[in-house]
Amino acid sequence: MSEVGTYDVVDGIGVITVDNPPVNALGVKTRVALDEGFRKFADDPSVKAIVLTCGGRTFFAGADISEFGKPPQGPNLHEVMALVENLKKPVVAAIHGTALGGGFEVALVCHYRIAVPSAKVGLPEVALGLLPGAGGTQRLPRIVGPEAALDIMTGGKPVGAKKALEVGMIDALATEGQLREDGIAFARKLLMEAKPLQRVRDREDKIADFRGKPEFFDGYLARNARAFRGLKAPVNITRAVQAAVDLPFDEGMKRERELFLELVSGPQSAALRYYFFAERQAAKIPDVPADTPKLPIRKVGVIGAGTMGGGITMNFLNVGIPVTLVETTQEALDRGLKVIRRNYEGSAAKGRMTQQQVEERMALITPALSMDALANVDLVIEAVFEEMGLKKEIFGKLDKIVRQGAILASNTSFLDIDEIASATSRPEWVVGLHFFSPANVMRLLEVVRGAKTSKEVIATSMDLGKTIGKVSVLAGVCFGFIANRVMSKRSLAANELVLRGPTPQQIDKALFDYGFAMGPFAMTDLVGLDVIGRGSGERTLNGDLVALDRLGQKKNGGYYDYDEKRKASPSPVAAKVIEDFAAYKGIERGLTLSDEEIVGRLLFPVVNEGVKLLEEGIALRASDIDVALILGYNWPAFTGGPMHWADSVGLQKVVDSLRSMGIEPAKTLVERAQQGGALAK
Ligand code: 3HC
Ligand code: NAI
Repeated sequence: MSEVGTYDVVDGIGVITVDNPPVNALGVKTRVALDEGFRKFADDPSVKAIVLTCGGRTFFAGADISEFGKPPQGPNLHEVMALVENLKKPVVAAIHGTALGGGFEVALVCHYRIAVPSAKVGLPEVALGLLPGAGGTQRLPRIVGPEAALDIMTGGKPVGAKKALEVGMIDALATEGQLREDGIAFARKLLMEAKPLQRVRDREDKIADFRGKPEFFDGYLARNARAFRGLKAPVNITRAVQAAVDLPFDEGMKRERELFLELVSGPQSAALRYYFFAERQAAKIPDVPADTPKLPIRKVGVIGAGTMGGGITMNFLNVGIPVTLVETTQEALDRGLKVIRRNYEGSAAKGRMTQQQVEERMALITPALSMDALANVDLVIEAVFEEMGLKKEIFGKLDKIVRQGAILASNTSFLDIDEIASATSRPEWVVGLHFFSPANVMRLLEVVRGAKTSKEVIATSMDLGKTIGKVSVLAGVCFGFIANRVMSKRSLAANELVLRGPTPQQIDKALFDYGFAMGPFAMTDLVGLDVIGRGSGERTLNGDLVALDRLGQKKNGGYYDYDEKRKASPSPVAAKVIEDFAAYKGIERGLTLSDEEIVGRLLFPVVNEGVKLLEEGIALRASDIDVALILGYNWPAFTGGPMHWADSVGLQKVVDSLRSMGIEPAKTLVERAQQGGALAK
């Protein structure tokens, strides 16, 4: 008897309802329920058609990812699916929530699919370094055509029900809240029409034109080479769709299986599956239970309409939360509003939103020139210049102006939240909410917990990330918190290494090939050398380049020279500046390293700093550091982040390399290496 399936018959229509919280993943219990339900109704002559639906918040969210790599148990998903597909009675999948991965693949073996308008369907396996391995690569092209199928599967984004209807992923929309009834009515109509049953696997019309055209698939990979760089899954997905087009169905399924097994046993998928759970783990804080009361955030105040204040404001406007935006002068306020408007109008020009939506979002801003306008907000986020004196002055004023019970947050990148909180009489209401630039794009929100920050404030802040589409990671107070602090070690290592011999282009290339979008020197040129090197009194390499008015891409080049199209080339001037600075520092040059050694030199110090964060209790767990770096610094997700990557390289190798660079490895790192343990498991 299944624990999670119920089967009832309404007027000759058998309804299978599966309810396996939280997301009806297709683990063993769900498979038992499906197997049992379909067998029962197949054998019951009073049942003429079947509706498959789910209880709880969603249709099947996919295979149970936690079962991967474990010995198989219970009914096999492929066998259950064959049973459904070969039934002589029509089967209707009735979808709400999200039908994803194996969940949508189950819907694809049903003869018809209907969904409520709020539902989403899709094949997101690529995000786990996988391909849809339960026939998705073979069936989806048969209903939407190979080109749309490739975009859906290599992009991995769920498709809303209305769009899904347009492209043919579903057959009809149901009424919100009436899915079961509509499913039964749909099945009844099918019985009245008595049309012959069509299996998706038998359809040829959408794929026939692509048969024997390898150039179409090679061209698809070539066109997307940039987006797919370094990733195995999109390539295997493309080859599986090619097999769907070129081979008979059962042979195509075999090819899909081979390509799936290659991915599921490889390091990229292991890293991405680790990351999937890491992201969800980050929400859990041992001493702040999930049922901690959260404060409603209905009105927000943002102080400073500069680079960060503007982006932070957009996050709230995007979800309909009004923002009071405070600046010191009308000019600064107008400038900030103009940038926000320009961003939205850019999205409208690309068709991502309508002009009306632009106006609606802009109308949610209340511009102000005094903090008095913040008296009644639920949350204030301060984003003024990075100066402790100024921040304390602002928090002192906020303490007098803002109502009791509101959260007072700072977006400081590096400064001590406890010192900022000390300027108020209510440090338990003060927290760090550290966004990453561009704040409307980057998905990381570091929630910085001060010594006195209350649990309610932490719980609300962690939840807030989700409300605005970000992932919150908890950090303790220290200079730079998690992401900035560990990544500063990479910059330091790059700046030291370039003095010893490897050129900026060699170093950048090694990191680009590792998977970063750009290396540290290309990044410095992009941001501006004057911005990066600001504030230090000492003579620095950056400073020497700035002294020659080499500010980066914006002026005269920096570590590279640039042509009018901003294409970079090695710079003889920068090379000379580097040489002179090394001589001034008395550093011997001539070191030559392989790309792999360069990567180790730059990234092992990051791992080491990560371990120190764990030792100091700044980060709760190694996987939080990985999430922070992947979402805050675009660390390539297919490596799993620095900590998971270090495990895969071998911790003893990390320890030995650090020592050879003259860096003392953190105590825990040495211990784990000696015990043959791991950081992120
Ligand atoms: N397997 C195992 N556990 C899963 C899971 C899955 N496929 N999907 C979600 N969960 C778990 C989460 O880990 C989380 O557990 P926790 O509460 O212990 O932390 C819980 O379910 C709730 O998940 P979310 O916090 O993500 O809930 P949301 O409501 O925010 O999102 C969702 C729901 C959109 C369904 C989201 O969970 C999701 O995207 N899930 C993964 C979908 C996916 O990738 N499916 C493909 C799987 S691979 C596959 O099907 C292979 C096949 O082709 C053979
Ligand atoms: P910015 O210089 O672009 O903007 C700061 C804005 O604050 C200016 O418009 C200024 O007029 C305004 N301002 C100054 N004093 C004010 C006051 N008393 N009242 C109201 N407005 C005032 O600076 P940016 O880059 O936006 O940085 C802001 C904060 O965010 C800093 O603490 C910084 O460390 C942090 N941060 C910056 C990131 C970045 O990449 N730029 C990333 C993450 C955090």
